[in-house]
Amino acid sequence: MSATKMSTTPILEVKAVSRYFGKFRALNNVSVSFQPGELTAIIGPNGAGKSTFFNVISGGVPPSEGQVWYEGRDITRMAPHDFARNGIAKSFQITNVFKQLSAHENVRVALQMGVARFELLRPRDAYGELIDKADALLERVGLTSSRNKPAGDLAHGQQRSLEVAMALACDPKLLLMDEPTAGMSPQETTVMMDLIRQLAQERTVILVEHKMKLVMNLCNRLIVLHHGELLAEGTPDEIRNNSEVKRVYLGKS
Ligand SMILES: Nc1ncnc2c1ncn2[C@@H]1O[C@H](COP(=O)(O)OP(=O)(O)OP(=O)(O)O)[C@@H](O)[C@H]1O
Ligand SMILES: [Mg+2]
Repeated sequence: MSATKMSTTPILEVKAVSRYFGKFRALNNVSVSFQPGELTAIIGPNGAGKSTFFNVISGGVPPSEGQVWYEGRDITRMAPHDFARNGIAKSFQITNVFKQLSAHENVRVALQMGVARFELLRPRDAYGELIDKADALLERVGLTSSRNKPAGDLAHGQQRSLEVAMALACDPKLLLMDEPTAGMSPQETTVMMDLIRQLAQERTVILVEHKMKLVMNLCNRLIVLHHGELLAEGTPDEIRNNSEVKRVYLGKS
């Protein structure tokens, strides 16, 4: 993917978004757009506003001011259940799986919640398709051998991968991930980074991450938030050499 600006409609546009909690500004007048096919990381020190930004673009928290546009449409007030239907999926910072259900059952639940078209098929065909689709998603994230294990028995990194499979159930054009490697061992982190790299070949991915080193080799583009404001945006090289960014990361955060 070229780092040069494309003239296509952005897949996502954040327009002058602010979010207040009481008088506190967690996000202050942030404007940024994302092009289709980009793999972008939102980075910044603790408390920078990354999760708030994530919640605003994924429909979890409405902005106090400003708008969010998706494929040229205002989605600022779109209902949460319409996100998946429109091709936007999110994978959370907090593990979100049903612990007692098997990995395969978890993905089936996600498929059934998101995809109404199974109901249009005859029940037996629909069930077979559901089973196959869940298996394909498990394979996609490297969990085939854990298919029948209760999700609660999987290692932390595998549970996060399962969560990604569930997010992929609606075949999203835009995948949003909040700290996909949080709490992972170095080995689990490597597996997840490889998975994200693969997923980004087929769709737009925006992830939130506070570990800057981790995303430097992964992303086309980085957005740096600091104190709720857009501090910098650019390619990994541009961000690496940005003096403001260096100051924020080398100073106490
Ligand atoms: N619901 C809320 N009510 C009050 N303040 C909040 C709320 N959510 C976030 N904040 C505040 O907004 C600021 C930004 O928080 P946010 O969680 O977006 O930061 P972050 O960049 O994700 O941090 P971290 O790296 O620790 O995850 C913080 O000072 C936080 O305390
Ligand atoms: Mg956060």
